[in-house]
Amino acid sequence: MKKKIFDFIKKKNKKKLVCLTAYSKNIAKILDKYCDLILVGDSLANVLYGMSNTRSITLDMMIKHSTSVSLGVKKAISVVDMPKNTYNNKSQAILNAKKIIRKSKCDAVKIESNYKNSNIIKAMTKAGIEVMGHIGYTPQFKNKFRPQGIKRKEQKKLLADALLIQKAGAFAIVLECIEIKSALLITNKLNIPTIGIGSSKYCDGQILVTDDMLGLSGFYPKFVKKYVNLNLIIEKSIQKYMRDITKELFPKKNNSY
Ligand code: KIV
Repeated sequence: MKKKIFDFIKKKNKKKLVCLTAYSKNIAKILDKYCDLILVGDSLANVLYGMSNTRSITLDMMIKHSTSVSLGVKKAISVVDMPKNTYNNKSQAILNAKKIIRKSKCDAVKIESNYKNSNIIKAMTKAGIEVMGHIGYTPQFKNKFRPQGIKRKEQKKLLADALLIQKAGAFAIVLECIEIKSALLITNKLNIPTIGIGSSKYCDGQILVTDDMLGLSGFYPKFVKKYVNLNLIIEKSIQKYMRDITKELFPKKNNSY
């Protein structure tokens, strides 16, 4: 197991893990100073490409963005989401994950997971690939948003899935929109870190889509904390630029050759 990933796992119960998404180098470079893990999420389908879900993103698109991200990352763990239908069976998953890691130089891949594909995770980790699991609300497979793990039966199933994914060799699991008590139970029962999004503070770490928390995406469900309204800041700068040009205040002599 690579040292970076080993250190990440060791932080469970010692420090809260800080994780965010990035789709390009410049943002990744800023995140790298503060984050334990940077995810090239397939949320880029919605956030960058305006798709209505994450299912149409391709392997090549994920590789292009993760190659850009890894140029900005020196210390954090970099993880790439595998698109839907690129990990349908063991050999396909291994081939595609190796391609992502070889081309992008990122450290690991994430797959939306449950008991059905834990055997695929097992084959991937046996082949030397670092895999992050993802349970709860999994956008590649669920059509309608609904918080997960509210009913006792669902809670038991999520815990069983998480334990199987851990046994298969995953180094961490994203818990997406999982009810508070279920998130706490899963976090306490696992030896690997749980990274929550919309899953309460009872996870070993947290992740958000960076464009959401910066106020860029226009998507602010209740689990998002908006730290700044970048949309407004950008708009004000563009207005100033427009004014400068129309009033001939820019470019000045010192901007010219
Ligand atoms: O695609 C993504 O950005 C994700 C996070 C929401 C965890 O999977």
